Amino acid sequence: MQAVYSIFLLAFAAISIATAEPEVQDSVGLDPKEVPMLHAVPYLTAENTTFGALVEGAGVDHWGDLYAVHYKGSKAAVGRAFKTPALFFRDRVDDASWFNAIRFSTDRDGVHEAYIGDVTNHRVVRVRDPGGKGAFFHFETFCHDPDMLQPNDLAIAYSTRRLFLSGMRFANNSVIGDGDLWTCNEQGTATRLGTFHRTNGVEVSPDEKTLYISEAVDQNGKAVSNVIHAFDLDAQRGTIRNKRTLVDFGQLDGSADHDIDGMRTDVNGNLYVTRWGAGRIAKISPTGQLLAYIELATISEATNLEFAGTGGRELFVVGACVSDPTKGCIDRWAGPVQGHVFASLQQTYGKE
Ligand SMILES: *[C@@H]1O[C@H](CO)[C@@H](O)[C@H](O)[C@H]1NC(C)=O
Ligand SMILES: *[C@@H]1O[C@H](CO)[C@@H](O)[C@H](O)[C@H]1NC(C)=O
Repeated sequence: MQAVYSIFLLAFAAISIATAEPEVQDSVGLDPKEVPMLHAVPYLTAENTTFGALVEGAGVDHWGDLYAVHYKGSKAAVGRAFKTPALFFRDRVDDASWFNAIRFSTDRDGVHEAYIGDVTNHRVVRVRDPGGKGAFFHFETFCHDPDMLQPNDLAIAYSTRRLFLSGMRFANNSVIGDGDLWTCNEQGTATRLGTFHRTNGVEVSPDEKTLYISEAVDQNGKAVSNVIHAFDLDAQRGTIRNKRTLVDFGQLDGSADHDIDGMRTDVNGNLYVTRWGAGRIAKISPTGQLLAYIELATISEATNLEFAGTGGRELFVVGACVSDPTKGCIDRWAGPVQGHVFASLQQTYGKE
């Protein structure tokens, strides 16, 4: 009786595990033809764009306006792209500055600020709007280290105002050290968190407990691997641990040779990943499932993206125009959920 009872219990336990487990489709080996294809539409085209070919570093402010670098073809200039295109910030001190990334934030007193990555000077500059009128003019080097490879892109953990910076250099045969990941705390102290093969996209999850970074491996001048790593993040201390591979695009859809560039999360934690050269964005679930592709209208070499616009739900994607590669185009796709950064910027942080 006792034995029968235990067997019954075991069987019951097995059944409840089987039914409690949601049916999850294994994304590895998924037929890319079966992945839903969504379609972006043109926003700034080769005919009416105000951005150059190196358009990059898409960022959103708390009004839902979108910004990008290479405004009017200047590496030292950031422009607003949406709603109305205009110059946002130009480095008038060092014309050799090469801005590649921008993210908006709010300081403890509620003052709006923007952090801009400068490849040439291995630093992040900060501009502030103390008057609250959208006039960002207080300009300073916020964090800096000559050992930074770039920075290329940057992300912010809004709970602690900590920055995360990725950097890279191209080599025909990449080695560990051709990519790096740094953090800058609220005081602007820079610390290197790790070295990799070529790193590019960097993002934090909406709960700021996970940090994502992309890594590409190059052999004989060609990318042979493109993956996204996830780490457990301690946004307070600025430490990462428990590295695991969330997505390997070679296994996922056979696109190891297409570089990952910018990545952004939505409020549900889904990742939107630029597939440079493939003319599309991959939407990836927090568990690494391929959920959809967003096909681009005017861009093949997408460099970056961000949710902005109405309700912070419109995904804007930037990159060189296919029809005129000397210019920077922007496509948009109206999604159902808000971007993580836009949602974070709606809250009042400060005044603590
Ligand atoms: C640029 O042109 C495209 C295509 O004609 C149009 O949809 C878009 O609204 C224009 N953008 C601006 C800012 O005028
Ligand atoms: C890198 O590869 C390119 C093309 O494959 C080649 O032209 C170039 O010489 C290589 N550079 C080095 C340093 O080997």
